[in-house]
Amino acid sequence: MNKANRGWVLESYPVGTDFESALKLRDIAMPEPGPGQMLVRSLYLSLDPANRGWMMMPTYIPQVPLGATMWGFVLGRVERSNLPGFAAGDLVSGFGAWADYCLMGADMTNKLPDLGGLPLYAAQSLFGLSGGTAYVGVVDIAKAKAGEVLVVSGAAGSVGSLVGQIAKIQGCTVIGIAGSPEKCTWLTDELGFDHAIDYRSEDVAARLKALCPKGVDIYFDNVGGPLTNAIASCMALRGRIVLCGSMAKFANPGPELDLGPILLNRVTVQGFILIDHFDRLDAANAALADWAASGKLKHKADIVDGLENTVAAFRMLFTPGAPHMGKLLVRVDPAAL
Ligand SMILES: NC(=O)c1ccc[n+]([C@@H]2O[C@H](COP(=O)([O-])OP(=O)(O)OC[C@H]3O[C@@H](n4cnc5c(N)ncnc54)[C@H](OP(=O)(O)O)[C@@H]3O)[C@@H](O)[C@H]2O)c1
Repeated sequence: MNKANRGWVLESYPVGTDFESALKLRDIAMPEPGPGQMLVRSLYLSLDPANRGWMMMPTYIPQVPLGATMWGFVLGRVERSNLPGFAAGDLVSGFGAWADYCLMGADMTNKLPDLGGLPLYAAQSLFGLSGGTAYVGVVDIAKAKAGEVLVVSGAAGSVGSLVGQIAKIQGCTVIGIAGSPEKCTWLTDELGFDHAIDYRSEDVAARLKALCPKGVDIYFDNVGGPLTNAIASCMALRGRIVLCGSMAKFANPGPELDLGPILLNRVTVQGFILIDHFDRLDAANAALADWAASGKLKHKADIVDGLENTVAAFRMLFTPGAPHMGKLLVRVDPAAL
């Protein structure tokens, strides 16, 4: 094969959010699929805050080594396959790399489900990591019930925007926390959140105490940092905090969780990682598809064109008040819809 390949190579570990110094776009070799692998042409890259964690330390996957093409979730088309059950031409979503072409193995790789006429990017904006995390987090971990108050941070992001809508479907009162007036208006006017608070210009604890004098039953924490302590001080007796992400620490390592209010209000704090719940993805995808088809749930992709713009786009995830809403994707192949 004589096609060219480019990839973002991790040349040093980033300090804070200085990704431009750490990652460089290079011409790289076309990878050769070994046994149990396939060569995939990238159509969309899913940009996920977790990618930053993979550069920092071993997590549920090893740390990305220096010199490697940056790992990430990719939606693409199989070019050649040595993986049983997958053939050239299949559309797949899985663990790949920030490159024009990458290798995928069986681990965390799926053929795309029937998208029922939805655009291809719905595999990332509605299903996949974002939808699965939101569904499992609200339904299985938080066990949200009608009449409860659920607060979600990172609410205009990919996971948060689905969390709030799923909680509304469960009958909760939903309050979203986001970083701009535009995002707050989108949450209330388009997605049906009951209230939205701009954490960059408002006193979050004061607003929450005014909006829900009996306290917050569920806090779905997508960001960590100072917001977690502000919201933890507003919890109802026997409330639940679901720890989904702690991305605020990458830009500014902040204070640890203050356990005082947690103790006094007998709050349960539970972290979860979607990889422990892959057996729930079929149920999640079925529910998400139904809700989207009936108009109860909206999903949005913010699409940046061009592999060369990946790192600039990635920075937006860690920039409070950045303009993107919904799922942030890079379209690698301009022909992808
Ligand atoms: N546990 C799991 O299995 C799992 C799976 C997927 C994702 N996650 C986690 O879920 C969280 C959300 O992921 P996502 O893909 O949906 O990202 P995202 O919300 O689409 O993007 C992140 C948003 O968070 C906000 N933000 C950034 N820094 C912030 C800060 N210091 N304080 C408050 N808000 C900040 C920004 O919006 P504003 O303008 O509103 O500030 C940013 O746009 C991440 O922490 C991610 O790691 C966990």
